[in-house]
Amino acid sequence: MCGIIAYTGYQAATPIIVEGLRRLEYRGYDSSGIAFVQQGQFRCIKAPGKLNALVDKLYANPNPMLATCGLGHTRWATHGAPSEANAHPHISNDRKFSMVHNGIIENYREIKAELTSKGYKFFSDTDTEVLLNLIAECRKTAPDNLSAFQRAIKLAHGTFALVLLCGDEPDTLYATRKSAPLIAGIGEHENFVSSDVTAFLAYTRKVIFPDEGELIRITPNTCTVFKLDNLAAIQKETQRIEWDAQSAQKGGFKHFMLKEICEQPAVLRSALAGRLDLAGGRVVLPELEGLKSLKKPERIRIIACGTSYNAGLWGSSLLEQWGNIPCTVEIASEFRYRKPLLSAKELVILISQSGETADTLAAVKVAKSAGCVTLGLCNVVGSSLARETDRVIYTQAGPEISVASTKALCSQMALLALLALYWARQTKTLSGEEIQKHLFHFEQLADLLEKELPEMREEAKDFAVRAASARNIFFLGRGRSFALALEGALKFKELSYVHAEAYAAGEMKHGPIALIDPEFLTIAIAPADEMFAKTFSNIEEIAARSGPILAIADKQGGKNIRSEQQLNIPRVPEPFTGFAILPLLQLLSYEAATYLGKDVDQPRNLAKSVTVE
Ligand code: AGP
Repeated sequence: MCGIIAYTGYQAATPIIVEGLRRLEYRGYDSSGIAFVQQGQFRCIKAPGKLNALVDKLYANPNPMLATCGLGHTRWATHGAPSEANAHPHISNDRKFSMVHNGIIENYREIKAELTSKGYKFFSDTDTEVLLNLIAECRKTAPDNLSAFQRAIKLAHGTFALVLLCGDEPDTLYATRKSAPLIAGIGEHENFVSSDVTAFLAYTRKVIFPDEGELIRITPNTCTVFKLDNLAAIQKETQRIEWDAQSAQKGGFKHFMLKEICEQPAVLRSALAGRLDLAGGRVVLPELEGLKSLKKPERIRIIACGTSYNAGLWGSSLLEQWGNIPCTVEIASEFRYRKPLLSAKELVILISQSGETADTLAAVKVAKSAGCVTLGLCNVVGSSLARETDRVIYTQAGPEISVASTKALCSQMALLALLALYWARQTKTLSGEEIQKHLFHFEQLADLLEKELPEMREEAKDFAVRAASARNIFFLGRGRSFALALEGALKFKELSYVHAEAYAAGEMKHGPIALIDPEFLTIAIAPADEMFAKTFSNIEEIAARSGPILAIADKQGGKNIRSEQQLNIPRVPEPFTGFAILPLLQLLSYEAATYLGKDVDQPRNLAKSVTVE
């Protein structure tokens, strides 16, 4: 989705902003732009397409770019096509203001009509240009730029992160946010505002998180936070980001996605660090202490989107089996509007890598308004989800840059398994010895995966070439493997653009099997678990109809499957097999997409954090 980076300080702003935009590329975008004030005039350079198109334009410019303050933006089109005119930053009609914006101004049509009647002209199809001109209009009667910004923001509905630059204060940035991320980076005689901390992490780790209902004014030496209501200045704590800039680099890998897949053993170690008490046979989660509904919830409802939803589905069976707690899983975009019947006794778990997914954040509000306790499972420290839920457990996977989520899912699954074991002890569903045995297996997983990953990658390559030649693929599984099948299909289609769908294998004969013919490929996930015999029968039904099959199975069990090829699942004690199947599915999609020459880290039409609904 859109990315913002703005700088004010003592260095040339343009290279810093370009570097920041490069770090934001992973979020997905279709145009980019930069604005700054030079000799009292706004300069604005924009280009559709990839960032290099903007860089070529910038450096073809004969004028030295000595501005020490500026705005940068990568746009992912919402209102209007991806074009130069629609790219941000925008400039107001009076050429006194420039602004970048992430999100959607829902009432922009009404505002536009009013401004048009006052003679304003619009040069783009964007809602951003409308709000910017509203600021210019408010400035006519407001005593200063801050008040004009405040007045306009109060009139805007929707979700937004905004940064404003004013021609008469060329080293000052004004910013605000509503249901969209925005972070101020505090440096030495230089400050930053961005939608994503990775954009300025090379310069500072000190940050301020503005909350909703606040405005910030940033100069090279100050960052002042004001209440939106009355412009009273408020004290805000500076926090420190522990991620280092290095971990947001490719580190010798061809793609971020491959790096992140290979990081999963380390991710597992980090997710479990300090949380396993092997001797005591218990899970240590201080985040759950002090609230009764977290100690022993009566019901659990998991809400998430995309890959995070698949994590929830995978974990729900463990929460029921081990935790002995009824658990349902819902897609956030459905949940938020379907007027769900919620009991205040339910614990609502929201899962999100970014912590900024608009639908998941809206679901927090719905759950809270029904009086439910909310628990966030989140990767990004200080994100909106982390701040808006009653409690948060960080997945500790480190920055995930590739648009396709990989290692985050591994860490989410680890935390859900930990929660299930935590509650298994509270509800006494498992004995101390059983919990201890699972914890022991859990602890060994990372080493095992580390050892197996190189071979998994080699095996996935051949398998991927075959899968890449298909036009349609079913990913099938049962039980927890169904959740993994959903993830396999999601990853395959988002990366390779080959049509792939997941089905619960037992559901095939209720309709989808009609599609099976010698062209329609099935990728069957059949680990040696309690569902193997059932899955095996379902695979036979497909083979009987001449459907080609690729099997993901353990060496022994897979021998009897009538498949063209087999990917071997390394031996992992149940129910942790999913942690070994997951990288196989991820590598399969990765290898297929690279074989097909696709843009692995930034697939078309997709964005890393989906901050609009
Ligand atoms: C998966 O590869 C996607 N990037 C997407 O489905 C993602 O998982 C979804 O948008 C949810 O994001 P979140 O975890 O940041 O909330």
